[in-house]
Amino acid sequence: MIAIASDHGGYELKRGVIDYLKAKGIEYKDFGCYSTNSCDYPDIALGTCKSVVKGECEKALLFCGTGIGISIAANKVAGIRAACCSDIFSAKFTRLHNDANVLCLGGRVVGIGLALELVETFLNTEFEGGRHIKRIEKITAIENMQNL
Ligand code: RB5
Repeated sequence: MIAIASDHGGYELKRGVIDYLKAKGIEYKDFGCYSTNSCDYPDIALGTCKSVVKGECEKALLFCGTGIGISIAANKVAGIRAACCSDIFSAKFTRLHNDANVLCLGGRVVGIGLALELVETFLNTEFEGGRHIKRIEKITAIENMQNL
């Protein structure tokens, strides 16, 4: 199950990606928003990311105007590794090396054609493991630090 969500700035791009997921028969859950009415991307990120850390959804696709605000918010949730991408190389290597579980895209940055390539790359690339595992563990250790 793939979680998908946007604020108003990413709403139209999210609609296009939902059409793609439907056409490919990929199961998804839409965590909002449900119109172009203004809303706050941290609220959208939190609800969606909870479904990933609880294991209800395997990965998430998040959209805002730039992809940046929603990725900053998503990365505050323990267990989330969100990557804001607008090129295929980054979308591929954030899976291979960072085991990213959330892809963030900017509805005002990328068009639907590139967005679909980014989503396909992200969903179909496996984490490489190996030397990258200890680095992911160090990210988790930072999350667990109470007093920096
Ligand atoms: C909303 O106007 C916009 O600020 C938001 O979608 C996003 O781009 C923030 O990073």
